[in-house]
Amino acid sequence: MKILVTGKNGQLARSLAVRAQGRGIEIVLAGRPELDLENPSAFASVLKSVAPDMVINAAAHTGVDQQEDEPQRAFRINAEAPAELARLTRMAAIPIIQVSTDYVFDGKSGEPYVESDGPNPQTVYGCSKLAGELAVRSQNPDHLVVRTAWVFSQYGRNFVKTILSAAQTRKRLQVVADQFGNPTAAHDLADGLLAAARFRRDHQGFPQGLYHLAGQGRASWYELARQILEISKAVGGPIADVEPIASDQWVAMALRPANSELNSERFANDFGYRAGDWRDRVSSVVGNIIKDSVTGQDSR
Ligand SMILES: NC(=O)c1ccc[n+]([C@@H]2O[C@H](COP(=O)([O-])OP(=O)(O)OC[C@H]3O[C@@H](n4cnc5c(N)ncnc54)[C@H](OP(=O)(O)O)[C@@H]3O)[C@@H](O)[C@H]2O)c1
Repeated sequence: MKILVTGKNGQLARSLAVRAQGRGIEIVLAGRPELDLENPSAFASVLKSVAPDMVINAAAHTGVDQQEDEPQRAFRINAEAPAELARLTRMAAIPIIQVSTDYVFDGKSGEPYVESDGPNPQTVYGCSKLAGELAVRSQNPDHLVVRTAWVFSQYGRNFVKTILSAAQTRKRLQVVADQFGNPTAAHDLADGLLAAARFRRDHQGFPQGLYHLAGQGRASWYELARQILEISKAVGGPIADVEPIASDQWVAMALRPANSELNSERFANDFGYRAGDWRDRVSSVVGNIIKDSVTGQDSR
């Protein structure tokens, strides 16, 4: 089975490539410049030359604050491009997996969100990703939309690397303590998507179109930062104190959901995969980042 994955340098794309190794799934990564989501006229030729059995759209404009200033670009990348990819995959009679986000919710629920909860995005990012979900759904019936949250890994840019890098230059970090979610290891997200892909290969279709898949356990950004730095200290990495602050003490362009926990039970029931506990996964990712920094390996 061959899967074309967009966003070749992103956390999820790189994790899919690593986790598919030795599992009978060939991952072909594509990204800028050959597959630029702002240039949909190139999609058909990439699809033709790769001839995949499935597409996973892991590329997105993920700059949440930046998008508040460039909504048209956000919609081009996060909504119009997935629509065109979905249209082309339908014409090629292959399935598409679109990855989406907890930011489709307003974060006002006291409970983890289930798939039947109504979205109410509060940011350009959330609105554009929701539009992408709806577009994929309408353009290709053979689709899966998987919402995830708070993704971290040893690759690319993410909260774990931001905290480790801040601790190299500052002794005290202020981190928001009143926003909650499920930190999700990119390798776990990749494993879940590969389980769904195998399911699709072995059956006529996906059981349902919309799923949540996030790490087990709830955290605030503050708790996550503390865990990162505790592990860092234990393995000889950078150290800093963490001070909890409220959301209104943190200046950002985009409003973050106060509670964006996702209930991933439907995914576990239908695909038999559950992501790991965030504390365990943070331990191994921080360990790997620090080991790579000591050995001079590339964790960019
Ligand atoms: N990161 C999170 O916390 C999070 C949370 C919820 C949902 N998600 C969703 O999960 C998916 C994977 O996220 P991730 O963490 O792997 O994101 P990421 O590390 O930010 O990677 C996104 C990738 O998209 C690519 N991209 C951006 N604009 C593009 C364009 N115009 N054409 C082609 N590629 C473009 C980037 O390319 P360059 O490398 O060239 O910039 C990058 O490789 C996305 O759909 C995201 O919305 C992520």
